[in-house]
Amino acid sequence: MIRHLYVHIPFCARICPYCAFYKDLLDRSQTQRFCEAVLCELDKRTGVFGVVPKTIYFGGGTPTALSTSQLEFLLGSFHQRLDLSALEEWTIEANPGSVSARKAALLCKLGVNRISLGVQSWDNTLLKILGREHNAAQAEQSFHILREAGCLNINVDLMFGLPGQTVQQWQKTLEKTISLRPDHISAYCLTYEEDTEFFLRQARGELKADPDSDADFFEVGMSILEEAGYEHYEISNYARPRFSSVHNRAYWSGEDYLGVGPSAFSTVGMRRWQNLADYRAYADRILSGQSSIATTENLTAELKRAERIALSLRTRDGISAMECRFRCGSICLTSPCLRRRSSAEAGDAIRSLLKTSAPRFAERSGYRTSN
Ligand SMILES: C[S@@+](CC[C@H](N)C(=O)[O-])C[C@H]1O[C@@H](n2cnc3c(N)ncnc32)[C@H](O)[C@@H]1O
Ligand code: SF4
Repeated sequence: MIRHLYVHIPFCARICPYCAFYKDLLDRSQTQRFCEAVLCELDKRTGVFGVVPKTIYFGGGTPTALSTSQLEFLLGSFHQRLDLSALEEWTIEANPGSVSARKAALLCKLGVNRISLGVQSWDNTLLKILGREHNAAQAEQSFHILREAGCLNINVDLMFGLPGQTVQQWQKTLEKTISLRPDHISAYCLTYEEDTEFFLRQARGELKADPDSDADFFEVGMSILEEAGYEHYEISNYARPRFSSVHNRAYWSGEDYLGVGPSAFSTVGMRRWQNLADYRAYADRILSGQSSIATTENLTAELKRAERIALSLRTRDGISAMECRFRCGSICLTSPCLRRRSSAEAGDAIRSLLKTSAPRFAERSGYRTSN
């Protein structure tokens, strides 16, 4: 029985120069056909696997780039096709540029109970550098619209380590975020991903990554958010008590999940596959009865265990001795000597710990190492 469902919506009103997710510019002439293809794939998969979702996650791209009527059609069709009696969490990613009161009300009415808002920063200069379609005032307005529509679980995505960003700017962004009292905050360090404009600009020497200052931003984030009552439960994720993401925790604990839509991954038992990362070809294939799968991998028990360890080490809970089949006991990595290690040294530290014990990175220095 599959309990976790991911749906990839690839459209974006504007393409951000740092983003490596599979996405494409919004083309309104394609979106309805795309929604039909997603539903067709859902029917196909649910015909093979038992799917009674505990969590559904609409990610992207920008799911809210779809029109209100398309979202109504898509989400309404999920209600018709799936048994949602066990559903605990239904998340949708939203870009502040595409949130309206009508859309927010519709999402809540159709059972979405968690919205992840891509704010990134409250600083307009940085938002411009990031090529965002919204400014800080629009992001704040979107946040209030979601609350007023009745959304009781809002995540705010933030980014740090941005070109030219100062620690003061980061502190201000954190403080502004806290003042709005979101239920969950994801704080991501900017990664210069291959095949992005930022990556090319870095290669040309126009932008420069600085891991040491990233680590400082990370620690500032940790102090301010924990002080404000957010529990740091995964390297990049903070939540008010009882608001950690059920869907993401399922990934990190190695549960099966089904992904539909272009580029989406699925893992069921010992098999993992990925759909074509091209929404037109994806829709053509699915709607003509062909397979949408681009690659398939047969997992080994060893690989699954290694993944589970790697993902668990990023969480506050860590991994238990039983699961790891290590001898009993657990340790906390709190030693200050681990603070300024290079990643190779940190890797060695982790490897040697794994040989001896069941580690749990529960303290500030431990997070730096496990990241
Ligand atoms: C799929 S996007 C979120 C939804 C929506 N498309 C948006 O941008 O508002 C998921 C999140 O990943 C983060 N992200 C994207 N590219 C990143 C990168 N190169 N480095 C770090 N974080 C990144 C951003 O915080 C973004 O909000
Ligand atoms: S960050 Fe979000 S809005 Fe920007 S291109 Fe990526 S998916 Fe689209």
